[in-house]
Amino acid sequence: MKSAIRRKYGPPNTLKVETIERPTPKAGEVLIKVHATTVNRTDCALVTGKPYIMRLFVGLFNPSHPTPGTDFAGVIEEVGQGVTKFKVGDKVWGFRDEGLHSQAEYMTYSAEKNIDFLPKGISFEDAVASLEAPHYAYNFMKNVEIKKDSKVLLNGATGGIGSSALQMLKAMGIEVTAVCNTKNIDLIKSLGADKIYNYEKEDFTKDETIYDFVLDAVGKSSFGKCKPLMKEGGIYISSELGDNWENIFYALSTPFFGKKKVIFPIPSNIKDSMNYMKGLLEEGKFKPVIDRRYPLEEIADAYEYVASGQKTGNVVITVHG
Ligand SMILES: NC(=O)c1ccc[n+]([C@@H]2O[C@H](COP(=O)([O-])OP(=O)(O)OC[C@H]3O[C@@H](n4cnc5c(N)ncnc54)[C@H](OP(=O)(O)O)[C@@H]3O)[C@@H](O)[C@H]2O)c1
Repeated sequence: MKSAIRRKYGPPNTLKVETIERPTPKAGEVLIKVHATTVNRTDCALVTGKPYIMRLFVGLFNPSHPTPGTDFAGVIEEVGQGVTKFKVGDKVWGFRDEGLHSQAEYMTYSAEKNIDFLPKGISFEDAVASLEAPHYAYNFMKNVEIKKDSKVLLNGATGGIGSSALQMLKAMGIEVTAVCNTKNIDLIKSLGADKIYNYEKEDFTKDETIYDFVLDAVGKSSFGKCKPLMKEGGIYISSELGDNWENIFYALSTPFFGKKKVIFPIPSNIKDSMNYMKGLLEEGKFKPVIDRRYPLEEIADAYEYVASGQKTGNVVITVHG
């Protein structure tokens, strides 16, 4: 089978597509024919090995497994001994942020882990683009109490996490001010933003509205700059550590000092996120934003583009057409 391969950490061109042996499912595992996977920011970290802390989980000096990939949507091709939940031909999706070796034509995975039946009526591409970024968006928000009348400012509303958070907030009926650039204004309007700041022309921190929550989904602002936008008791949530890891420091100190808090949630419980997303997708309340599609052979180009930090929404790899 064809597989993306890298045997050491490095830039996107470290990745090559090679022919390797198809894996065989062990007891309790399934063999999945991968139809689609994404290249996301977590994948970029697993390929470059940066931030270095990632290496504690995926190989200290070199990657512990040569095939990268964190998510998949595909079809069960074989079931290992003892698997009763899935049968050959079932359509499935799944995600794991320490890597799943899914950027290949076939992969094996434990039937007990983060794998479930594909949401009904959803394509492989849409399913796979509804995993990594929505998982983070959902985790950033489920740790705070967002009420019907809460006001939220969302910076980076066009990214994978941002475009997911925007749709989740609108599905909850929340008023959202979104920040994006000129080319994405129509997209952000179509996802339901109530007010839009074009960061190429305006400074959103000058807004006079006072918000309950500021969610920075790309880590391009700071707590200090956003503080004047927040009400007393307001919460700043960022997807990035910030300069000198300041968001960790603030997350530890602001609950005790000051009236405005920073939280830096560590995403967990992928099954919970998948169940939540399955509900939104099947109810027609979520449509993932797909920026580009690449065949597996061009996966290094896909990584190059994602690493540029300029993707809009998601980048999908179409493995089996
Ligand atoms: N904490 C965690 O566990 C965790 C997990 C995954 C990812 N992350 C981090 O979260 C961040 C977002 O991930 P992602 O996958 O959503 O990223 P992404 O899709 O690559 O985000 C790119 C988006 O950022 C926007 N952007 C760039 N510069 C901007 C600026 N100055 N102001 C506002 N928006 C700007 C771009 O929009 P335009 O095209 O409009 O410029 C683009 O749409 C990444 O930095 C990633 O490392 C954190």
